[in-house]
This record gives sequence, C-alpha cells and structure tokens, in this order.
Amino acid sequence: MNIFENRVAIVTGSSKGIGRHLALELAKRGARVVLNGRNADAVQSTQNWLAEQGFTDTLAVAADVSQPLDSKRLIDTTLQHYGRIDLLFNNAGLGQNKATLEESSPESLKLMMDVNALGPMVTAHFALPHLRVSKGGMLFTGSLVGVHGIPGRASYSASKMALTAVAEALRNEVRGTGVYIGIAYVGFVQNDEGKLSLGANGLMEPIDGAHNDKREAQDVVARRMLRMVEKKQFKSYFTALGKLNMILNRISPGFVSWMLGRFA
Ligand SMILES: NC(=O)c1ccc[n+]([C@@H]2O[C@H](COP(=O)([O-])OP(=O)(O)OC[C@H]3O[C@@H](n4cnc5c(N)ncnc54)[C@H](OP(=O)(O)O)[C@@H]3O)[C@@H](O)[C@H]2O)c1
Repeated sequence: MNIFENRVAIVTGSSKGIGRHLALELAKRGARVVLNGRNADAVQSTQNWLAEQGFTDTLAVAADVSQPLDSKRLIDTTLQHYGRIDLLFNNAGLGQNKATLEESSPESLKLMMDVNALGPMVTAHFALPHLRVSKGGMLFTGSLVGVHGIPGRASYSASKMALTAVAEALRNEVRGTGVYIGIAYVGFVQNDEGKLSLGANGLMEPIDGAHNDKREAQDVVARRMLRMVEKKQFKSYFTALGKLNMILNRISPGFVSWMLGRFA
C-alpha cells in the first residue's frame, strides 16, 4: 500500500539538497508536496524541476522557518491551498564550517540554534493541530553529529541534539492520537554543487571538507526517510558508521569522545 498517495506533505528546506529529493520521492508516490526555502527563486526553480518531470501538484512557499511568523504563514498557506496537512518533514537546516566554540561568534551560535532547533520546533507547533486532525506525521532530519558532540561543530551538534529532545517529548505528547513522530539520524550525504555552510562569523560561506565520493546519495537518503514514515519508525541511524556510532556511544561514550578528539 502506498501511504503517500494524495497526502499533503510539507518539506521545509526542499529547494535544495536532501529536501529537494524528499520532494521528488514524495511526488513520485502521488503526494501533493509543499516546497520551501528562504530564497523564492530557488523554491520556484525546484517547483519547475518537478513540473518538468510531470509532477505539477505542488505548492511553493518561500519562508524562513527561523521566523515564527514565516512558519505560521507556511502552515496557513498550505491549509488555504490544500485544506489539510498530512505530513511535515522538518528538514530545513544549516551546516557548520569547522570552528571551535571560542572562534564562533555569538551571532553564528544564535543563527544555528534559530534555524536548526527553534525553526523545527515552531513549525511543529503550528502544524500539530492539523496533524492531529489528519492523524498524520512528522519526521525530523537529525544527524549523527546529534548523537555525541563533535569538536569544531559544537553549535551544529547542539542544534541536532535538541531535535532528539523535541522528538522524544513530542512522541509522548501525541501518544494515542494516531500522529506519527520520527527522527532520522542522517549520516554523511552528498552536497549540492556550491553548497554554503555557516561560518564562524555568522555568514554563509562555501562548505568545508565535502568529499562527495564517500558520501551517501541524496535520493538514497530521501527513500530511507520515507521508509521510516511507512514503517512508523521512531528513530533510525543511517549507514553502518551511524549504527556503530550509536552503539559505541551507548557502551562507551568515553571511547567515542577520545576518537572524536583524535580524528574529527
Ligand atoms: N548534507 C549532509 O551531509 C547532512 C548530514 C546530516 C544531516 N543533514 C541535515 O539535512 C538537512 C538538509 O541538509 P542539506 O545537506 O540538504 O542542505 P542544503 O543543500 O544546504 O539544503 C538546505 C535547505 O534548507 C533551506 N533552508 C536553510 N535555512 C532555512 C530557513 N531558515 N528556512 C527555510 N529554509 C531554509 C535551504 O534553502 P535556502 O538557503 O534558500 O533557505 C535549502 O533548501 C539539514 O537539516 C541538515 O542539517 C545533512
């Protein structure tokens, strides 16, 4: 059974990267997809890209999820257009270029938390009443760096760890309502050409250290995420490295810390 057929799915941060492939995989399964990102041209270009492949039942909403009024507008515009919300993929997020906490400006620390942690929380806040009605679901895009703090990526790790807390709390808050909550601990994924990442000064700059040949393809990651939703899986650690990281972190967090200090 295809659980995505005719479902209204919002994918935050779907103008690029993993989110763009999530949108494509959802559209292939017959979902009506709401596309999002801050840059209106990029969102439009993704909508055109889907249309060229025959997927025309989409809605483009440029909105900054770190701004509560924008998050609310994303939800309201979806309701006005489609009349319901079945799925929220809380995916929009910034990466962090390597910098110690001392090197990171307060502006960069705040922006990271605003986009990666506050954004998904606030968007969830506005979406949840409608997900209760549809008995739908929400998947957070977490990261392996949200399992154990990574030196040089403190704010990114903190923002992704926060999502675990939110997903765990939410899961109990909606228990018995039929609403699904999940969090995907995504591993190292291939990046779009020209991807930008948050620098220590709080500005976006070219991403450091992205060796795409060793990373998982975006479409593979997107399909894994949809399988989680199909199976109503709460947590999933992607890739063998991710599973090993999770197990080692439970057995011996001190060893993981030592390894990260040596090699990260
Ligand atoms: N790539 C990896 O290796 C990896 C690994 C683990 C987890 N992840 C997570 O996967 C998610 C997607 O990452 P990606 O690699 O696909 O990144 P990406 O290629 O940079 O795409 C990020 C998307 O989010 C949007 N976005 C950024 N800030 C936003 C905001 N404030 N409001 C709304 N949209 C916003 C971007 O569009 P605009 O810039 O136009 O806003 C873009 O559409 C993130 O949560 C990331 O942390 C990635």
